[in-house]
Amino acid sequence: MTTKNSRKKESGIDVLLREKGSYPPPKEFSRASRVGSFSELKKIRQGSLLNPEKFWNLAAQELFWFKPWRKTLEWKPPFAKWFVGGKTNACYNALDRHLTGFRRHKAALIWEGENKEKRVLTYLQLHREVCRAANALKNLGIQSGDRVAIYMPMIPEAVIAILACARIGAPHNVVFAGFSASALSERIQDAQAKLVITADGFFRKGLIVKPKDVVDEALKSAPSVQKVLVVNRGIVENTSWIEGRDVDWFEVLSEASENCPAAKLDSEHPLFILYTSGSTGKPKGILHTTGGYLVQAAWTTKYVFDLKDEDLFWCTADIGWVTGHSYVVYGPLLNGATIFMYEGAPMHPAPDRFWDMIERHKISVLYTAPTAIRAFMRLGESWPQKHDLSSLRLLGSVGEPINPEAWQWYHKNIGRGRCPIVDTWWQTETGSIMISPLPGATPSKPGSASLPLPGIDAEVVDREGKPVSLGTGGYLVIRKPWPGMLRTIYGNPARYKEQYFSQVRAPGKKGIPYYFTGDGARKDKDGYFWILGRIDDVLNVSGHRLSTMEIESALVSHPAVAEAAVVGRPDNLTGQAVSAFVTLKEGQNPDESLKREISEYVGRTISPIAKPADLRFTPLLPKTRSGKIMRRLLREIAAGGAVKGDITTLEDLGALEKLQSREED
Ligand code: WT7
Repeated sequence: MTTKNSRKKESGIDVLLREKGSYPPPKEFSRASRVGSFSELKKIRQGSLLNPEKFWNLAAQELFWFKPWRKTLEWKPPFAKWFVGGKTNACYNALDRHLTGFRRHKAALIWEGENKEKRVLTYLQLHREVCRAANALKNLGIQSGDRVAIYMPMIPEAVIAILACARIGAPHNVVFAGFSASALSERIQDAQAKLVITADGFFRKGLIVKPKDVVDEALKSAPSVQKVLVVNRGIVENTSWIEGRDVDWFEVLSEASENCPAAKLDSEHPLFILYTSGSTGKPKGILHTTGGYLVQAAWTTKYVFDLKDEDLFWCTADIGWVTGHSYVVYGPLLNGATIFMYEGAPMHPAPDRFWDMIERHKISVLYTAPTAIRAFMRLGESWPQKHDLSSLRLLGSVGEPINPEAWQWYHKNIGRGRCPIVDTWWQTETGSIMISPLPGATPSKPGSASLPLPGIDAEVVDREGKPVSLGTGGYLVIRKPWPGMLRTIYGNPARYKEQYFSQVRAPGKKGIPYYFTGDGARKDKDGYFWILGRIDDVLNVSGHRLSTMEIESALVSHPAVAEAAVVGRPDNLTGQAVSAFVTLKEGQNPDESLKREISEYVGRTISPIAKPADLRFTPLLPKTRSGKIMRRLLREIAAGGAVKGDITTLEDLGALEKLQSREED
């Protein structure tokens, strides 16, 4: 064991370098990167923690502001305002700013369709399209502050739509195009969106998916929507059309002027609402505002990906998730980078589609999810081996802890041992990356997201808010506000306060509330953070966040179901998998076809990602005396592990109920 004294003599880096399984950044990489050594990073971090406002104040100066801010932060816990009094515009910063210099004719976006159709938009061209779209929105009656729902596939128009909204100050509400009509409708209604932007179709695994049909269905119960703007790619015959409501994107854009000044918006003007699952049945509309979000998105993209003008940056996330917002669209464009975007499925037409695109387009930075890596891993090394991946210089991971085995595979087979891997921890709520290595500075330990970034005061604490000792598990909290933090849950500030700022406070009677992430974590002897996963009723399936309650309410809305409980179980591919326990109504026949039907029904009600991986019928659900479902017990059963005693079958749950209820109460 290292004693306090012996550790003092060595710097942290020596310890890390000695340690087996730690990967220092390659020397050539460090030499060419912005922060090229661990000691330099530590200095920046320490300085930033003494005065985070000063740190972020400096970062904010890299953006364009119509009017400078008076005050960096106004913190009235739990409500924060950043860059108070400043005026700026997300779209202006992402596009206009690059038009006066050498980036004017640089590719902003390189896109490939699943059918290998290709499009390239330079900054000038993207700007033109965005201005036209922004004017089209105005012509359709959209004003600053009006919410616009975006239900679109991964096509350039999705980026154009997002930026057009930002340009005129209309908060966008992107809904993942895999969500069902009822999930879409719920989100549109909660945001009271006035307009929906969608497309006739997109390609997925060689088939045509038709989001416009889903929008039509969703709007039957979402009366706030007045217009639907449809990107007609012409891949769907006879797209349904409601005269007076539906508007053709290309038609209105061709008539719209390409001159559209960016609105001068308050730093705290809402930029977007993005729904995510919480621990109740109702999704939360996470609200992000302009100035602070942009500052952190820009900073993290620049430093975590050490982005250079020569890079081709590919974040594989869908624009329907926060990763798509911050690292497909805003972060890279704020840095004047070239983004790569792909429409379709990762394994289509063959399991080497990703590697093929990396080779053909010479992609240099790849940012993807552990679940994707594990899926590739299963198919073997031969698929990436067919390709020249020498253009890659950096790899990223996000969405869930990356298991060391997948890390090694990624490092060896994709990074060919040359590329650092940044394991980035963050959330929809945090807006941008919070805990991550800097690729030229931080030695990596597979499975750990390493250290909080400069300006971020993350800590692992106990219930009383006290940091736990190294090696011990605790609550992952953020102790001080950060610029990209969510500002509220749309329309529900009470839930915002309750959900994020009521569980853990600074020690002492009048301790300020800490932001509680919902994750458990531990720190190792070098202060590295190891994320242990959610400690609430939230599941993480393939990096997608699902609420057990939301799936339960979908299950009980099926006519045959009386009661349902959903838990997560470990899964080798998806990280966690949805495991459902269902009690049927009297007279229902518990057979395989009903199982399938109920599963499909969940897929239709929420999204195919929410479909239970296993569904079991049980005559009883184990409950405590107060009527709470004993989830711990169900989790153990779902995982196939031994339940206390030797009772492992569901049939025994009724008997078990009595046995266990005392201790769970
Ligand atoms: C939850 C947030 C923000 C990106 C996409 C997911 C888990 C995310 C990591 C990581 C371990 C991670 C956490 C977090 N998570 N990244 N690198 N290591 N866990 O966004 O849907 O808001 O989910 O994903 O549990 O709380 P999200």
